[in-house]
Amino acid sequence: MSKHILITGINGLLSQNLVQEFSPDHTISGLDLNPGIFDPNQKIKVTQLDLRNTNELTKHIYATAPDVLIHTAAYTNVDGAEAERDLAFAVNAKIPGDLAKICRDLDIPMIHISTDYVFSGTNGPYNEADLCAPRGSYAESKYAGEQAALDSGARLAVIRPNVMYGHGRNLKSSFVDWLLKELAQGRPVNVVDDQYNNPTYARRLAMVTRQILDRQAWDVWHFGSKEVVSRYTFALICADIFGLPSGLINAISTVELNQKAPRPLRSGLICEKLKQELAIPILSIGEELALLKEEMHAS
Ligand SMILES: NC(=O)c1ccc[n+]([C@@H]2O[C@H](COP(=O)([O-])OP(=O)(O)OC[C@H]3O[C@@H](n4cnc5c(N)ncnc54)[C@H](OP(=O)(O)O)[C@@H]3O)[C@@H](O)[C@H]2O)c1
Repeated sequence: MSKHILITGINGLLSQNLVQEFSPDHTISGLDLNPGIFDPNQKIKVTQLDLRNTNELTKHIYATAPDVLIHTAAYTNVDGAEAERDLAFAVNAKIPGDLAKICRDLDIPMIHISTDYVFSGTNGPYNEADLCAPRGSYAESKYAGEQAALDSGARLAVIRPNVMYGHGRNLKSSFVDWLLKELAQGRPVNVVDDQYNNPTYARRLAMVTRQILDRQAWDVWHFGSKEVVSRYTFALICADIFGLPSGLINAISTVELNQKAPRPLRSGLICEKLKQELAIPILSIGEELALLKEEMHAS
């Protein structure tokens, strides 16, 4: 049955993939700070609204009465959040709880997108039930938002991705975009070899979101790829799949980058629960990058 799905942060990487996933058979509307990429004459209606404006947000949801809400919007600048901690908390910690309470009151199911940063990143990979211990303002704000949403009593699923990449238009540069561009231009790149993850391909995360909604699987879910690898190994696999020169990739350590926010060195998300309970196949990094390559060539 066709539903009306409201997506927050509709111009972002994951949202653009959600639009691709759901728009063939559902009605989509979105909220974001900027008008963004969607043509106002097309069927996807985007409203410019700062989600921190709780009154306007509440009015909008009551007036449009969506069947489902998917909350992807976030303050995503991990280093910026150290200087703008209040803003990171206003967006990442407060808004998820506000939205979840509105959804609870209107009995609208909600999907909240969280992150592996809720964990300490010192002893991963992590199961859904592992102890959270966020480090840094972005991580702490996302953890507070996740908890507020979970505490709301709404019909809610929380999905945690890590190191997300994918295809879209007018996006902030992700690690994979940057890497492919630099290697294609023949420029050497420095990539850390001491941060471990199992990156999440946004196109498949959109498919996973649909499965979770279809099955009304109100729970916490982890989604990434099959293997946990260092960022350096991930870069080598990218170069291999895209036929780019891996010799340009130099391994460095995280301390050499001198970043403002702490980075999880041993992270990664165990995806067994999705595999066992929802029968969702977990693909290798190479398989997912090959899908991205196809997607990029097709667009
Ligand atoms: N990307 C990753 O590696 C990664 C990894 C793990 C988890 N996540 C989580 O996954 C989710 C989606 O990430 P993404 O990379 O797709 O995000 P994204 O591309 O940064 O998109 C987020 C969107 O939300 C908008 N936004 C920010 N603050 C807003 C506000 N106050 N009101 C309305 N809209 C607002 C942003 O607008 P502006 O661009 O104008 O600010 C942007 O269009 C986020 O919750 C993020 O925390 C991401």
